Parts: sequence; structure tokens; C-alpha cells
Amino acid sequence: MSKERIAIIGGGKMGVGIGQLFATKGHEVKIVYVGNDMERGDSAINMEANLNFLAANDVIKKEDIPDIMGRVTYTPDIEDIADFADIVFEAIVENLQVKQEMFKKLDEICPPETVLASNTSALSITMIGEKAVHKDRIIGTHFWNPAYLIPLVEVVKTVHVSEETVNKTYNALKEAGKHPVVVEKDVPGFLANRLQHCLFREAISIVEHGIASPAAVDEAIKYGFGMRLGIMAPFEVMDSCGLDMTKAIHEFVFPDIEDTHEVQKLVTDNIEAGRLGFKTDGHGIQDWTPEQMKESTEQLNVKLIKVAKALDRI
Ligand code: NAI
Repeated sequence: MSKERIAIIGGGKMGVGIGQLFATKGHEVKIVYVGNDMERGDSAINMEANLNFLAANDVIKKEDIPDIMGRVTYTPDIEDIADFADIVFEAIVENLQVKQEMFKKLDEICPPETVLASNTSALSITMIGEKAVHKDRIIGTHFWNPAYLIPLVEVVKTVHVSEETVNKTYNALKEAGKHPVVVEKDVPGFLANRLQHCLFREAISIVEHGIASPAAVDEAIKYGFGMRLGIMAPFEVMDSCGLDMTKAIHEFVFPDIEDTHEVQKLVTDNIEAGRLGFKTDGHGIQDWTPEQMKESTEQLNVKLIKVAKALDRI
């Protein structure tokens, strides 16, 4: 069977990343320019920079880059994808109304068997597809940045989606080397962000209660259970340690763990003081020097590649 033809809506960070990963796996890719993509004109430049970075870190071969880039075309005309795409990945601005209009349009122009997937981080897939007629082919595919390095893609079902759409999406992602995980319900945060922000809430609470400093919290995760999580995650840990031990810990610890439904003061107070983090000259919950910010930003992907190689996930 020939490889699915992939259309991407939006030539921003995620759109380019998703397009790049399918092109790397031999798919023909069409990226639709929206917003100010055309004026910025940097989608292909960014993809080439990403590919050069992967080649420099021995993930792909440098001589393959022209072929990969050659499989990607760019168009400002969304109608161009109607007779082209088997799967459309939407990666435009995180705005419900804009995404709803986009899915209405995609639903009108694409044949009913074309899968329409949204890469929204946090919006409801069901609401995004509200104005479309063929809701059975609308699905969530939540990639993680960078889409070409992090294997996980959350495949989010709605009550309307067909099993055929789920299977087609799942199989295409799997064949492209991703690690899709099906999320049965379209809930806020899907699966992984619910877990991630549960950890963030407790991290903030620990600092607010003077139990440890922000640096100590980050170190406890990075040098402790965070290292293990990529190998052994909660359900394996619980069975491996014994549920009796899990019960004993939960009985003692749960009553003391943060369960607020409000955004916490440590976050709102810093925002009010104009301290947003790296984007406000390194002033946030902690203060960062320009060197520390540079190191943090530049080294993340290099270290992700090392981890992915060590765990055989790239
Ligand atoms: P980006 O800012 O790099 O790209 C946004 C895209 O939307 C660009 O193509 C831009 O031209 C277009 N756009 C802007 N205003 C528009 C408008 N009014 N109408 C139509 N298109 C418009 O953003 P990024 O990071 O690529 O995010 C895209 C989507 O992916 C968002 O839904 C975001 O929540 C989601 N996402 C982002 C992740 C990240 O770490 N950056 C991770 C996972 C999902």
C-alpha cells in the first residue's frame, strides 16, 4: 500500500515538525500557509535547520536531507489539499473559534474519508469539530514539541469518531515511528497534561509551604524518580512494589497533598509583578542568567536525543 499523503495546516513550529517527521518517513507532505506564514516565509528554513541538527546528532544522514525536503510542498491555497490528503493535521493558532472555522472549511472541501486531526494542546476536540458535518472523521492527535523527537502522540477520541478513523490515524502514526496512545475521552488535558500538571501543582505547593526551594524540587525530580519514569511508570511501579505498600503510602500522604482547583499564588503573584520567566529577561519564579537560559534552550534537544538513543526510542 502506498504511504498516506499528509496535509498540514499551518507552517509554524508544530506544523513544520509534524510535516518533517512524515517527509522523513517517505510520505508526500503539503503544508498549507495560514496566518502570516507566507510573509514570514521561514517554514522551509526552519525545517532545514531541524534536519541539519538531526544530521549533526547522527539521527538522520545529511545526504538524505534534499530528498526529505523535496517531498514537502507549500501552498497558500487550502483548496489544494482537497484531492491530495489522506490525513490532514491542523496546527494553527490555539483559538477555538479559528479552529472551528478551519474544521468547518476542511470538512466542506475534503472527501468524507479524509481524516481531519487537530494538534490542539488543550482545547476540546469535540468543540473544535462542532461546525463540521462529518464528525466521525475528526480526531485529536496531540504531538509533543519537538514533534520529530518526542515519540508520544495522544490520539484523542470524541463520542462521534469512528473506529475506522481511530485505526487509520493510529496506524499512520505508528508506521511513521511515533508512539501513539489512545485517549478514550476528550477531557481537559487529555492524558499526559493531566499527569504533568498534577505534578506541577504539587511542586508549586511544596514551594509555597516552605518545604523546599524551586531548585530543590527540580533536582529531586531530575536526579530521582524523574530518571526512572522513562523506564518504569506508575502502574508498573505499583505492581512491582506491591499494592499493600502503595496503600500504606497513599493513606498517609494523600490527606496532605495539594488539591486546589485555583491557579496558585506563586504563579499569579509573579505574573502580577511582571515576572514571567525567560521571556522577561530571565525573571520568573527563579532568576536565570542569559548563559543559563541559553544552555537550557540549546541543550534540551541534544539531551533528548541522548535519552531517546539510550532508551532505543529514536
Ligand atoms: P506557532 O505560533 O509556531 O504556529 C501557529 C500557526 O498558526 C502558524 O502557522 C500561524 O501562521 C498560524 N496562525 C496564527 N494566527 C492565525 C489565525 N488567526 N488564523 C489561522 N492561522 C493562524 O504555534 P505552534 O507552537 O506550532 O502551535 C500550533 C498548535 O499546536 C496550537 O494549537 C498549539 O496549542 C499546538 N501545540 C503546540 C505545542 C508546542 O509545544 N508549541 C505542543 C503541542 C501542541
